[in-house]
Amino acid sequence: MKQANANEESIKGMLDQQETLLIVDDEAVIRRMLHQKLSREGYQCEEADAAEQVLNTLATNPIALVILDIKMPGKSGIELLPEIKSGYPDTAVIMATAVNDINVAIQCLKQGADDYLCKPFNLEEVSLAVQRALEKRRLKLEIREYQQFLEEKVEEQTGEIRKIFLGAIEALVSALEAKDKYTGGHSRRVTEMALAIGSELGLSAQDMEDLRWGSLLHDIGKIAIDKVIQNKPDKLTREEYEHIMIHAHVGADIVQPVVDGKITEMIEHHHDHYDGSGLHQVIAGNDIPFGARILAVADAFDAMISNRPYRSAMSIPEAIDEIKRCAGTQFDPDVVTAFLKTKTAEMAMK
Ligand SMILES: [Fe+2]
Repeated sequence: MKQANANEESIKGMLDQQETLLIVDDEAVIRRMLHQKLSREGYQCEEADAAEQVLNTLATNPIALVILDIKMPGKSGIELLPEIKSGYPDTAVIMATAVNDINVAIQCLKQGADDYLCKPFNLEEVSLAVQRALEKRRLKLEIREYQQFLEEKVEEQTGEIRKIFLGAIEALVSALEAKDKYTGGHSRRVTEMALAIGSELGLSAQDMEDLRWGSLLHDIGKIAIDKVIQNKPDKLTREEYEHIMIHAHVGADIVQPVVDGKITEMIEHHHDHYDGSGLHQVIAGNDIPFGARILAVADAFDAMISNRPYRSAMSIPEAIDEIKRCAGTQFDPDVVTAFLKTKTAEMAMK
């Protein structure tokens, strides 16, 4: 977004400022003649007699248009044209050529020159060609400015729609959890803990934002889980456990159309074990997305300190011991270290 604004400002700057022309010819008389004519018409003019001076002037001044002599000692105008066009695509170029070199001039048009003029110059023709080339340049800049404006608007509105959608899903998660006495507020608490761990790990602002959404939405897939199995007061059978665990994939599929891939992956892998021993796990260790490894610790901690239909809650110190015990097997040891530095863990260990 910032980039678009900077570009937009620079285009606006180019459109607003007085257009400076660069007259390039190895003959001083010709340069002077064009300079006089064009400055009388209100243009700011610079002169150059060879390639090096042209490139220096372009590097230090915003040049709107170059009148470029084809035949010059040293690097010719034909050789210089591609350099100007690649380095300064917003600068218009009019080639100046002797009448018997018109084929060369046409070749230059194919390589990006905006027009050509024949020598000896007819000053009125020069003036008209400059006006035409500058007008064409201005139109191109205006179109680009408008395109950037539209792109920015689309990006803004896409962001708004995404926010509304995610907000709606978040509300749905809260509603689902509120209905269940065992999971009420789980996603919010997991989010708080995941962010505390993320902050200990020094995550960037963007990674923290992804982690926030990943945590809030991590259990959305439970919408597809059989409530009888979810609330079963006894130990789950292998089939029942497998059924519950589909929530990670279902959740990833639900949010995938509207969130960044990082968030989807976080949800998909939040039950992966660091040592690869989780159910139907395909990746392990540091291949598991970092956000998912953080989420795994935060999620397990909150589950342990909450009552479940088949067991009562552990105390916080007991849960911390369990997390420590599983560092390197179920959990990433670096994430566990960061978890132990969070306020909740530190206070409980005092
Ligand atoms: Fe989960």
